Amino acid sequence: MKKILAFETSCDDTAVAIVAENGDILGDAIYSQLQIHHPYGGVVPEIGSRAHIEQIRLVTAEVFHQAGLSPHDIDTVAATCAPGLVGPLLVGAQFAKGFAESRSLPFIAVHHIEGHIFAGSKEPGFPEAPFVALVVSGGHTALYECNEHLATRCLGQTRDDAAGEAFDKIGRALGLSYPAGKLIDDLAKDGDASRFRFPKPMRHDESLDFSFSGLKTFALETLKKSGPLIGQDLSDFCAGLSAVIADSLSLRALRAVKQCGHQALVIGGGVAANSTLRARLDEMCRKDSIALFLPRPRLCTDNAVMIARAAFIKLKQGKTSDLCVDVMAHLPIESSDKLYQRTYSA
Ligand code: KG4
Ligand code: ZN
Repeated sequence: MKKILAFETSCDDTAVAIVAENGDILGDAIYSQLQIHHPYGGVVPEIGSRAHIEQIRLVTAEVFHQAGLSPHDIDTVAATCAPGLVGPLLVGAQFAKGFAESRSLPFIAVHHIEGHIFAGSKEPGFPEAPFVALVVSGGHTALYECNEHLATRCLGQTRDDAAGEAFDKIGRALGLSYPAGKLIDDLAKDGDASRFRFPKPMRHDESLDFSFSGLKTFALETLKKSGPLIGQDLSDFCAGLSAVIADSLSLRALRAVKQCGHQALVIGGGVAANSTLRARLDEMCRKDSIALFLPRPRLCTDNAVMIARAAFIKLKQGKTSDLCVDVMAHLPIESSDKLYQRTYSA
């Protein structure tokens, strides 16, 4: 059975995985740079690139150890090549290309968002296309349509902040460490969501776009007036914030599914791990008989399993990448075919 060795280094995680063609995860390791970037309150690209260089060989060795495999057992190599931070992307892509070149293996460049969308493919419950995907992370908040050829098109996206960015920036004002999304999620579990009233973003807008900067400003102003929150007050604030963000995301996700006339919704990206969002989507999709695929939280945040699974889909379509393919900070999902320059008969 074919095995892909995959790398994901688009931001602050050095992630490597070995995945088999049937979807089985044979090895999966992530080195998180959180502690390194902690003093700066955000990701410093140059520091991140250096940390990827130091760690990538060690993380790769760990994955081979987990899988009980040697480099001879690998059939194809994949790496995230866009979008993301150019320095970190370069480290993963060059390491992957070097591995592929040294063993004369095919190389597949992967679009990070396609990775998030197909993270759960080959798992029970992952829908057949066509479906709508909601990708919500620290850098992206958008809705996509995947058709039967698995071509993806953006239906709507945030006009300003990503949902994860809003969680992280408001979390900072709450005195929480970066990234704050998971901490806010945990605090919200003991909170009363009706205590703090947050404005609903783009309440009267019928489009499939999102906006979170108004909500962020409102939350920061509220905190300026209230002073530091602790205990039950903090939990109530987090519950109200999680509820308003989850509502905005689910409302538009379901609107997109209905407008496209599809029957299935897939979610992905770090914020897809949010329990309020998962519960809200579950409730709404049940009501409207829409099949909902919620990936395990480990597959929501950045990882290399998602890159391997997206790469298998490209491989099945006969797509591989030239070793000269560049990494790109920005690449619209509709242009992801730019990553594939050579076809062969699979
Ligand atoms: O997909 P990801 O790992 O990296 C990007 O591509 O951005 O997403 C990271 C984002 C961060 O903003 C983090 O705060 C958020 O996902 N996040 C969460 C949760 N877990 C991670 N947000 C809300 N609830 C969570 N449980
Ligand atoms: Zn991501």
